[in-house]
Amino acid sequence: MTSASMAALAPLSSLVLVLLVLLSSAGPAPASAFATALDPSLMGVHLGKEKLSHFRFYWHDVLSGPNLTSVRVTTPPSNASATGFGLVNVIDNPLTLLPDPASELVGRAQGLYLSASQEEVALLMIMNFAFVSGKYNGSGITVMGRNPVFHKVREMPVIAGCGVLRFARGYAQASTHTFDLKTGNAVVEYNVYVLHY
Ligand SMILES: *[C@@H]1O[C@H](CO)[C@@H](O)[C@H](O)[C@H]1NC(C)=O
Ligand SMILES: *[C@@H]1O[C@H](CO)[C@@H](O)[C@H](O)[C@H]1NC(C)=O
Ligand SMILES: *[C@@H]1O[C@H](CO)[C@@H](O)[C@H](O)[C@H]1NC(C)=O
Repeated sequence: MTSASMAALAPLSSLVLVLLVLLSSAGPAPASAFATALDPSLMGVHLGKEKLSHFRFYWHDVLSGPNLTSVRVTTPPSNASATGFGLVNVIDNPLTLLPDPASELVGRAQGLYLSASQEEVALLMIMNFAFVSGKYNGSGITVMGRNPVFHKVREMPVIAGCGVLRFARGYAQASTHTFDLKTGNAVVEYNVYVLHY
């Protein structure tokens, strides 16, 4: 490009700059509107038609072997408690349709669990279930609750959802399918009941 043609472009680029400044100051709401009431129908949300969905799948916590999905990130002092109080695991656990880990993958449980009880083995679970199956692919729910792992059925709140599961709330029931005391590997059945739109 010659210096003459660059000089010819200079007024054009300053015009673009002025336009950008003008556009960036033109927002949809005035700066004073921190919170605005919205018409749900304009957001594609039909608040009158709440649905109840039941999801069932198996959660695989793999702490040993070549393909770990659950990693211990703290080692609490052994005299802290007999319940593993203080341990933290970060997980990216597959969720499958059947107990067999090779069965259809329906999602992943990503988050962490930590031992938060000195009385019995009870975990605080903080997980996003990121689904990949069918119309739920790309959508998910968030579970946060107490999981006393040696109880037959543990119930944890579903606190939120995203994608087609926006505004979700409900509960998840976990029951251990298999637990290997030696490796710590576990397969847990989850039955999740979710109200959503
Ligand atoms: C671990 O992952 C590799 C690569 O994906 C796979 O070939 C192998 O079968 C897996 N092993 C186990 C025990 O799951
Ligand atoms: C555990 O015991 C050791 C040795 O008695 C002590 O030094 C340490 O402070 C104890 N830890 C806790 C968390 O009490
Ligand atoms: C889920 O969506 C992703 C991204 O759009 C796509 O790559 C993937 O193939 C989909 N998975 C299934 C099982 O449909």
